Amino acid sequence: MTDPDDAARRILRGNDRGGYTVPTAGLYPYQWNWDSVFAAMGFATFDTDRAWQEVETLLSGQWPNGMVPHILFHKVEPTYFPGPDVWGGVGPVPSSGISQPPIAATFIRWLAELDPAGADRAKAMVGPLTDWHRWFFDWRGEGGAICVSHPWETGRDNSPDWDAPFAAIEPANLDAYYRRDTSHVAEDERPRRWDYDRYLTLVKLGHDCGWDEAHLREVSPFRVADPTMTFTLLRANRDLLALAQRFGAETAEIEDWIAAIEAGSERLWNADIGAYDTFDMRAGTHSGVISNASFLNWYAGVRPERMLDHFDRIAGFLPYGVPSADPQQPGFEPKRYWRGPVWAMMNWLIALGLRDAGHDARATALCDTTRSMILAGGFAEYFDPRDASPAGGRDFTWTAATWLAWAS
Ligand code: DGY
Repeated sequence: MTDPDDAARRILRGNDRGGYTVPTAGLYPYQWNWDSVFAAMGFATFDTDRAWQEVETLLSGQWPNGMVPHILFHKVEPTYFPGPDVWGGVGPVPSSGISQPPIAATFIRWLAELDPAGADRAKAMVGPLTDWHRWFFDWRGEGGAICVSHPWETGRDNSPDWDAPFAAIEPANLDAYYRRDTSHVAEDERPRRWDYDRYLTLVKLGHDCGWDEAHLREVSPFRVADPTMTFTLLRANRDLLALAQRFGAETAEIEDWIAAIEAGSERLWNADIGAYDTFDMRAGTHSGVISNASFLNWYAGVRPERMLDHFDRIAGFLPYGVPSADPQQPGFEPKRYWRGPVWAMMNWLIALGLRDAGHDARATALCDTTRSMILAGGFAEYFDPRDASPAGGRDFTWTAATWLAWAS
């Protein structure tokens, strides 16, 4: 690789569409929610104004009910499906109808520390972030565990976590559709048709009720408490609390959320496997799947003694971790998206947590592994955990940003 820092900056600049960054051209030609927050942190290493702008553009798509969508369709791009007409988002910018892991408050707090001149910009975000977090708590909270209404909401689209809840869904009333993702990326690195039929069934359900959360909470066959959401929201509330204190905003509600989600995260603890996993509210069952999201308890600041054995076991089994699914469980597929590959930005979140929990040696080792993986495989969307070979999209924004802000 030529100078990797230069290459990473070139990727961010190349994916910049003016005020927002696409994850990668062609495959993902719009603004994605958490991708943008990682992009902002990458920009912050060389252009803080552009970093703030990235998050401001993201928040400009906030719905009246507080939800910040997972995709903002600023300009229509025919290379992507499902686009704005399929989603029928009801916010100020054409959008999808679901959200994504709320990592924004955490990184905005960090950005504000990095760039004191941006204090007013951070202050202006406290209200919108609070409204967004309230939306999660009001509509997706189940005794403090946070649920998703679609696997895409977690970012972990085809994790084995969704196999059981998806098996209970019979795709219905689907119009014929044509996938675009497999024209950009090899089919065996993407979700199957079986998954897509169910993704689109859930999108249609939301679209047809105008994304009425009260209705979806009642009728949707898919309501799953998820560690990505629960742990990122818990951490985000801790960071939002710090921002609110700094800028003199209301804190009582945020403190209540923190206490409730700390208690609710226990619902994701599966004593049978000694790990955090998803909990299907409709079936009343744990998935039994150990994913990379299972290791976000440290990032959330809960139970630092948990998950260490699984972390060490998997690190001893594969040269490159943390894989998105446990290689010693059935369902592991080392090249298929969220069923095995390693995602650099997940490693960053996991390592941040390890560091905070005082597990410094593991945090350092994970950073070293991620660095060598990127140096071997380039700025790919994800990597095969057996040999760091690149998979999915290339010239990928969040891998470049993770490099610049953390792994380099
Ligand atoms: C996709 O289209 O594959 C995305 O992951 C949805 O967010």
